[in-house]
Amino acid sequence: MDEFLIERLGHQGDGIAEGPVFVPRSLPGERVSGVRNGDRLSDVKIVEPSDQRVAPLCRHFKSCGGCQLQHAAEPFVAEYKQQIVKSALDAHGIETEFRPIVTSPVQSRRRATFAVRRTKKGALWGFHARGSDTVVAVPDCQLVLPELLTVDALMNDLARIGGSRKGEMAVNVTLSEVGLDIFVTGGKPLDNELTLGLSGIVEAHKLARLTWDDEVIGMRNPPFQKFGVGKVAPPPGSFLQATVHGQAALTAAVMEAVSGEKGVDLFSGCGTFTLPLAAHYEMIALESEKPMIAALDRGWREAKGLKKVEAVARDLFRRPFLPDELAKLDFAVLDPPRAGAEAQVAELAKSDIAQIAYVSCNPVTFARDAKVLITAGYTLDWVQVVDQFRWSSHVELAAKLSRPHMQR
Ligand SMILES: C[S@@+](CC[C@H](N)C(=O)[O-])C[C@H]1O[C@@H](n2cnc3c(N)ncnc32)[C@H](O)[C@@H]1O
Repeated sequence: MDEFLIERLGHQGDGIAEGPVFVPRSLPGERVSGVRNGDRLSDVKIVEPSDQRVAPLCRHFKSCGGCQLQHAAEPFVAEYKQQIVKSALDAHGIETEFRPIVTSPVQSRRRATFAVRRTKKGALWGFHARGSDTVVAVPDCQLVLPELLTVDALMNDLARIGGSRKGEMAVNVTLSEVGLDIFVTGGKPLDNELTLGLSGIVEAHKLARLTWDDEVIGMRNPPFQKFGVGKVAPPPGSFLQATVHGQAALTAAVMEAVSGEKGVDLFSGCGTFTLPLAAHYEMIALESEKPMIAALDRGWREAKGLKKVEAVARDLFRRPFLPDELAKLDFAVLDPPRAGAEAQVAELAKSDIAQIAYVSCNPVTFARDAKVLITAGYTLDWVQVVDQFRWSSHVELAAKLSRPHMQR
């Protein structure tokens, strides 16, 4: 057994000792022992614990790989996440005001993908153990909404009818306003018999919708989510903010960052921000996925009291929204995937848009893009870190950038 002192927490949530040696589930200042395999320590024993160490809330934490940071006190995790964003900005010499982090409550994730294996008795379902393909049952998971854990009979039926003994299915469960929306991949290929059996499951379990690979098997009700006064049924498997709480925090930050009469929502998805914004402003929504744009458009048409929304499918990496198109708008909202929005930000920098609300799930690409905007004359007014992935190392944020309206 070797002994190590943990110096810091890495961006994946592992403690890091000199070497570097990565030590899962350890904290800075802790003295640990274990067996070194290359740059990792296994069979870890905490010799001297940190005063930031707490007892994990979930009884599955030890065996389940779903959470990384349940052993750390909440203020410590909050500071760790803020610090990840600060150091990404520091790397570009950017300073700004940081608002207090907003963290989603325990048991609030509205979507989870469970690993499901068919067994002799029915199904073993849950999350993978850390760094392994072993499935750990998690009936008392503290991360997800309790409704997501009421699916034992459903998982048994899905595995019995559509699972093979060899493979593993990924069953994505989302709580919608009208029941569970289920999206399965990795099961048997669809044929008539399987389709018939799965249709029976939709009725027996009163599912809002069941999708098998890309095929919708049955939809008793469109599984809608509320975006402001709008109700939108996202296409199967498409992006959705992880918690209602996180969605509300990001929406509030976006709403605060913008003003005027008309704006554009870039990388709009199904309209998480477009529809709340449309209560006050005319909006253009741009997003590459046609089915998401169609869902947004339907949600807008069916809602009452919203201003005009023009929803258009467009690949913003290849065809960013241009300064001419931005000319008559007051603000832009931007919520790109992890890669960030390099091409789009280059065009924003050339435009005379006065306000930008930037929502990001990757502090590194956010900082890169913010630097381009700051160089073009914008100020980064504030950053709001939003943690809807509690107990993980994942970080999200909303930020406001502004500059005086430029005369062209
Ligand atoms: C982080 S999600 C945000 C979606 C939405 N703002 C929300 O909060 O629900 C990023 C969105 O960008 C879309 N996207 C990815 N690549 C894109 C591209 N090249 N052009 C336009 N949209 C893209 C994805 O389909 C996804 O809906």
